[in-house]
Amino acid sequence: MLVLGIETSCDETAAAIVRSDRSIRSNIVYSQIEEHRSFGGVVPEIAARAHLEMIDGVIRRSLEVADVTLTEVDAIAATGGPGLIGGVIVGTMTAKAMALAADKPYLAINHLEGHALTARLTNELEFPYLLLLVSGGHCQLLSVMGPGVYKQLGTTMDDAVGEAFDKTAKMLGLGLPGGPAIEGAAKIGNPKRFNFPRPLKGRTGCDFSFSGLKTAVRQAILNTGSDTLSDDDVNDIAASFQTAVADTIADRCANAISSFNETYPKDKTLVVAGGVAANSELRARLSALCQMTGFRFISPPPALCTDNAAMIAWAGIERLHLGLTSDLNFAPRPRWPLEELATVMS
Ligand code: KG4
Ligand code: ZN
Repeated sequence: MLVLGIETSCDETAAAIVRSDRSIRSNIVYSQIEEHRSFGGVVPEIAARAHLEMIDGVIRRSLEVADVTLTEVDAIAATGGPGLIGGVIVGTMTAKAMALAADKPYLAINHLEGHALTARLTNELEFPYLLLLVSGGHCQLLSVMGPGVYKQLGTTMDDAVGEAFDKTAKMLGLGLPGGPAIEGAAKIGNPKRFNFPRPLKGRTGCDFSFSGLKTAVRQAILNTGSDTLSDDDVNDIAASFQTAVADTIADRCANAISSFNETYPKDKTLVVAGGVAANSELRARLSALCQMTGFRFISPPPALCTDNAAMIAWAGIERLHLGLTSDLNFAPRPRWPLEELATVMS
């Protein structure tokens, strides 16, 4: 089975062809970042227009690279939310039109489910597993029981972790996207110079909070007393911030591992997914935690952690295996929590 995946929920216009034997035949990602850079963040209107401009070419390229024609494709899967609605509409309309014209099944895929199931594309992995989903808009710990079947163990009480990386990068005068910029600066910084807070660390439960950490970074910048930060200041703040984030996430994951273990004593896998899962310090911390607790640790390659369409095509394959498809009257959803998925999709 061959599925065309389309992803347009934020600032990447992406298309991919994936086969049910888990081979990625093509994975084309066009990043719009240059168009948003001067605004210091993703501008929804610009994103929607750029998706509209790029989508045809990106899909054509995904077919060319995979060396398949549309006729050979078995289904078309596109992100149906959550995300910036203009972009989601562009991807959804394109997928519906293609499905209708080529007489193929259409699947509206939840973007978060795309991230959540990626580990089954890259690794041999059975349900259930524990998932840490960390992206620009989300920060959650979930039990993944199957496509559409998720139980949330914890979530953020304020900012998503990717948002905290992006806002910190902005305060430090680093470019977009913030996560990789912070990671780069942190490599040459001193993580011990600033003792930033580890919000909720040591408390019970699996929730997250990042706003206090963000405030502490702002305060540290003000405390330097100068209008322009030195390179050392920037690198040291980035390193200290990143270590605080990794530390607090590892603490929350330790609680999640205990709680998951009580419910599923035989299933010992922690998966990390979403854009922030590309962060190497976070991966190293989680890997160490898994080693200590006897859990297997799976972190898909960074290019499959950040937004891409291979994950959307794969989620489509998982759903097709269960006989699930979507109606052509599916309405794109700006908000679409994973826990609501079962009821909406079935
Ligand atoms: O999953 P994703 O590509 O898009 C959303 O669905 O949100 O995640 C984007 C987020 C951004 O906040 C970006 O700064 C962050 O992931 N990110 C990183 C890294 N690469 C991307 N954060 C930390 N370290 C990275 N290497
Ligand atoms: Zn994402």
